[in-house]
Amino acid sequence: MGLIYHGMAGIYIHIPFCKKKCYYCNFYKSVSINRKEDFLQSLKKEILQRKEELQGEKIETIYLGGGTPSLLTIDETEDILKTVLENFSVSKNAEITFESNPDDLTYSYLKRLSATPVNRLSIGIQSFKDSDLALMNRRHRSDQAIKAVKDAQNTGFNNISIDLIYGLPKQTMENWKHNIEIALSLNIQHISSYCLTFSKGTVFYHRLKTGKIKELSDELCFNQFKYLVEQLKKDGFEQYEISNFSKPGYRSRHNSSYWLRKKYLGFGPSAHSFDFNTRRWNKADLEYYIKNVNENNTYWEYEVLDTTDRYNDYMITSLRTVWGISEDVLRSDFGEKYLSFFKKGIQSYLNSGHVLFNSGNYNLTTDGLFISDMVMEDLLYVN
Ligand SMILES: C[S@@+](CC[C@H](N)C(=O)[O-])C[C@H]1O[C@@H](n2cnc3c(N)ncnc32)[C@H](O)[C@@H]1O
Ligand code: SF4
Repeated sequence: MGLIYHGMAGIYIHIPFCKKKCYYCNFYKSVSINRKEDFLQSLKKEILQRKEELQGEKIETIYLGGGTPSLLTIDETEDILKTVLENFSVSKNAEITFESNPDDLTYSYLKRLSATPVNRLSIGIQSFKDSDLALMNRRHRSDQAIKAVKDAQNTGFNNISIDLIYGLPKQTMENWKHNIEIALSLNIQHISSYCLTFSKGTVFYHRLKTGKIKELSDELCFNQFKYLVEQLKKDGFEQYEISNFSKPGYRSRHNSSYWLRKKYLGFGPSAHSFDFNTRRWNKADLEYYIKNVNENNTYWEYEVLDTTDRYNDYMITSLRTVWGISEDVLRSDFGEKYLSFFKKGIQSYLNSGHVLFNSGNYNLTTDGLFISDMVMEDLLYVN
């Protein structure tokens, strides 16, 4: 069994606008929408320029992410999707996801959105506690988030995901339990729940370095993670990746395709593309993107992947997933040298019970997932 999946691919489209910056987020975005029209024109041009890249392979998933896709009007969203659908061979049952911020999701917006080809809605809720939302500089309140989910259900969305963050400064166990209780009462199909990371360049990072906020203890973060895993499991969710949980049949096909190493094209500033042999990333700079797309110049960088890169990619994308690391794949795709390097690195975690080996597959346990950064460090091959 090898790793290359032929004939299936995904498309990611980055909408690089936000109304304001959340204090934890370092995704590429501009807080001015002055250049939205020009961006949309360039985006269309990029899609057309690159329509031959997948050589007719079927597109199984389209993902509008950001930034904030819900800052687009419905006409703008429809127009982007029309360009993709007209220029690529998109499967009839393709999963088409749209990321959104709760306060953009008015009933009338949702009603119109549900009539577009979008069939999966991802809502960035982060927390149901207003003081957490204020601390993060989010622009919505908890009641708006709950209403957005209900309105989405009432306007016909039946594949809804919400994002939640744990490990927030001052977040108590009680507060986190309350968040999960509300999330589970909403009858949604998917939850992405990330542990807060303090990324360089963010307000939170600055506040951490200057002592204005404190990280939660590892113990409390672990207890929050464990509680999340246990409660969601009890409620019928499957944890198919460290931060992703779904009801049966509702895994994100788009994110799964990253983890299963299918090809994808990424459009828009900062978007990445991957075709198994090459990784390419558009420069994270809106002005540069608009100018250079229009002038038919290069606005991306790329790297051709050698065996070490591909082995390391396999670790990064697969270790934290339900699919885990396959001994057969290690042998067939990378050879004995990488297989024995992997086996040496994983041994102590097998001994300590952080990793299980079953039917030729290595999977992290819940305890193992929590220390996955450390495990990863021991498994990445440095030339
Ligand atoms: C980049 S956002 C885009 C979605 C939308 N704009 C929103 O804010 O909800 C995607 C998700 O990444 C997660 N995220 C971003 N930065 C993070 C961080 N530093 N730590 C943990 N989660 C983070 C948040 O849960 C967020 O909903
Ligand atoms: S979390 Fe979402 S809304 Fe907030 S800055 Fe990041 S992309 Fe924008």
